[in-house]
Amino acid sequence: MSTVIINNINEIKNIVKEWKNNNYVIALVPTMGALHEGHASLIKRAKETCDKVIVSVFVNPIQFGHNEDFDKYPRTLDNDKKLCDELGADIIFAPTPKEMYGENNKLNNTDLTFVCPPYSLVDCLCGKSRPGHFDGVATVVLKLFNITNADFAFFGQKDAQQLFIIKKMVKDLNLNINIIPCPIVREPDGLALSSRNSYLSREERAWALSISKAIKQIDTLFNQGINDTNILFDSALSVLNKNLEIEYIEFRDFETFEKVKSAKENTLAAIAVKSGKTRLIDNTIL
Ligand code: PAF
Repeated sequence: MSTVIINNINEIKNIVKEWKNNNYVIALVPTMGALHEGHASLIKRAKETCDKVIVSVFVNPIQFGHNEDFDKYPRTLDNDKKLCDELGADIIFAPTPKEMYGENNKLNNTDLTFVCPPYSLVDCLCGKSRPGHFDGVATVVLKLFNITNADFAFFGQKDAQQLFIIKKMVKDLNLNINIIPCPIVREPDGLALSSRNSYLSREERAWALSISKAIKQIDTLFNQGINDTNILFDSALSVLNKNLEIEYIEFRDFETFEKVKSAKENTLAAIAVKSGKTRLIDNTIL
């Protein structure tokens, strides 16, 4: 059976109501489309866990800053559908910004109720250079949870800060949904899969390979017993290609999200850089 594309909120709510009446367990895989093997791994996991799988494909205007890539973000719904067909997803939910936010669907939205995650979680790492980004993410994710009434939602660990913030939102707002984190999927040469990799020139891609090498280096040193994050930082820095613009290399406890001086199990080591104009992130949980 092929995947059905639905653009309308009421339509998907009616289908979900029927599924719930039949006691089906529902999965949501939230995405912005331009699906790749990383997304495929989430959809496969969702299929294994649940009776019905909804993949949302929505480039969410309210999580992009004014100088960011909202307009050029790849939109490839035909290919996305092919992948969802192959993987057996039941529905692609692909609303328009107007369907999601009514007339208030512009970037600088002042007439919308937002979810604001705690300042301590957004004023750091990616949130530092992307003010308002995680408010936009949390808001759309809560809307998607409410629209789909999903029992499980699947998120990639690559966006570790996003994952942490969503888990916190679920806890703080008592949402009835289980968040399933899924491992980072990489190209054979180590580059973490991202829809934004398509922006990279050949040269920028070659520089970007050093990001996963730096992550691997942190893992290796930690496994050799080195905990001092200054040493881990310097070592990662020495591996990163000099043409990359480094935004951060940080170590945070993945239980509390506090910065740590001494890495231990469950410490997040995260890197963000720009290769040319493209912002790339990668991480490991030690
Ligand atoms: O990770 C993403 O693709 C997006 O931030 C998400 C979770 C789909 C919300 O727009």
